[in-house]
Amino acid sequence: MTRRFGPVTANDDVDLDVHVGEVHALLGENGAGKSTLMNIVFGSVAPDAGTLEVDGEPVGWPTTRQAIERGICMVHQHLMLVPTLTVAENVLLSVMWTENGRRMSLAEASRRVTEIGERHGLPLDTSALVDDLSIGEKLRLEVVRSLLQGEIRGGLRVLILDEPTALLTRQEIERLFTILRNLAADGTAVVIITHKLNEVMEVSDRVTILRDARRVRTVPTSSTSPQELGTLMVGRELRPRRVVHSTPSGPPVLDVLGVTVADHHRVVVDDVSLSVRAGEIVGVAGVAGSGQDVLAECITGLRRSTSGAIILSGRDVTRVDRRDLIENDVAHVPEDRKVDGLVGSASLRHNFILGLHRWDEFQRRGWMRGRAIDQHAARLSGEFEIRTRGIDQPAQTLSGGNQQRVLLGRELHKAASLIVACGPTRGLDIAGTEYVWNRLVEQRDRGAAILLVSLDLDELLALSDRLIVMQGGRLVGELPAGEADPERLGLMMGGSAPVAVAS
Ligand SMILES: Nc1ncnc2c1ncn2[C@@H]1O[C@H](COP(=O)(O)OP(=O)(O)OP(=O)(O)O)[C@@H](O)[C@H]1O
Ligand SMILES: [Mg+2]
Repeated sequence: MTRRFGPVTANDDVDLDVHVGEVHALLGENGAGKSTLMNIVFGSVAPDAGTLEVDGEPVGWPTTRQAIERGICMVHQHLMLVPTLTVAENVLLSVMWTENGRRMSLAEASRRVTEIGERHGLPLDTSALVDDLSIGEKLRLEVVRSLLQGEIRGGLRVLILDEPTALLTRQEIERLFTILRNLAADGTAVVIITHKLNEVMEVSDRVTILRDARRVRTVPTSSTSPQELGTLMVGRELRPRRVVHSTPSGPPVLDVLGVTVADHHRVVVDDVSLSVRAGEIVGVAGVAGSGQDVLAECITGLRRSTSGAIILSGRDVTRVDRRDLIENDVAHVPEDRKVDGLVGSASLRHNFILGLHRWDEFQRRGWMRGRAIDQHAARLSGEFEIRTRGIDQPAQTLSGGNQQRVLLGRELHKAASLIVACGPTRGLDIAGTEYVWNRLVEQRDRGAAILLVSLDLDELLALSDRLIVMQGGRLVGELPAGEADPERLGLMMGGSAPVAVAS
């Protein structure tokens, strides 16, 4: 396959074969061309040259509908759901007909989603609005929808998952991997894109590595190692990183006092109190939807709490405008970059100053300072190694990891006193993750208070000086960095271990 976007070659004569019954991992740096290749297979991007064969027969370049009819389904990197519709309605939108050509009813869609969910351990509330789901639950919905599509076509031939694990906790990842292995055993060819080498080793039978739009190699997983994969991917050896934890003694920058948030009469954050000092990274662990993201939204002014107070450097900011916060003291890397972080259709130039456009640096008496804005964008693009054809490029045409870099570049540039980072390295490749971790530690060492919300326990354990655990909207425990390990945290997140309750 070959596909160009203007001057950028996303896929350069790439060959890939995926066998029945295998889990095939696709690996490569941000912008290497992984999503493009899979979008071609799924029919959502047309190649410039190349052939596609299913079961040995050339099938031309399918449309998405034809792909689904052939039993090829894809869970995208950017989830494809309608937020204003319910779970069942979203499924009905893409699965309109039953096996015997009858029109599917909403009740049937709902029943089958529940049934598939029960069978695979992917529970969903079919009457919930998608907008109200956590990002992990949205992914669950996409997987269930693919399974239903496959069921109706008499079996999934190919299931493609583009970075699904970036949205899941360890336990959820394990469950997903069991599902993928079972699907493969039943004759589905599974392709999974991930940046985590341990996941590649754990779930795949073979790995294909892309670098700079080309295929470097395809190897059986059993004959390779994480070290070799890392080297193949980036062309150099990767060194493990080590972060020195700090025990800050400065005054708290952030104080959250008994914050409660009720949403549609459901309590999603329940009387949470915590504080973060200058020069401290406090990690928030919890399964997706435990209230951690809503809490982050309250602190950054995206949402109002029902009761409680938020104090920032001694100032009560519970009711202040988000604009006031993000222009001055608060950097926010939101959970869902597409919705809360970037304007997809706007250029990089503008995304780099979103929310900061009133800074003197970028405007004078209401007139934007074009040259300063362009220089700013060019500098951050370089610093964060963003793969782009220029600062005019609309954000949504960047690869997923490169979009995340734009967001991080803008927010970390601010030198804010408080950084609220939700899944900051989501979708970043190994080198990018290393870079952002170093930048966060740098910010901590210059005295920023950092609240790190992440589903990635490795990330939490590597960076946090102190860890707190949320479950069902409550703060259920607290651990200093030295006492935390994945098992202990996992148990606390599930609520099945005796925990030290934070005061
Ligand atoms: N619609 C588009 N318009 C312009 N350029 C595009 C478009 N889609 C992809 N590209 C470019 O093609 C290249 C490959 O992108 P792709 O999304 O396939 O990368 P990826 O390997 O999935 O990366 P990531 O790990 O960051 O998701 C990137 O340089 C990207 O900017
Ligand atoms: Mg991608």
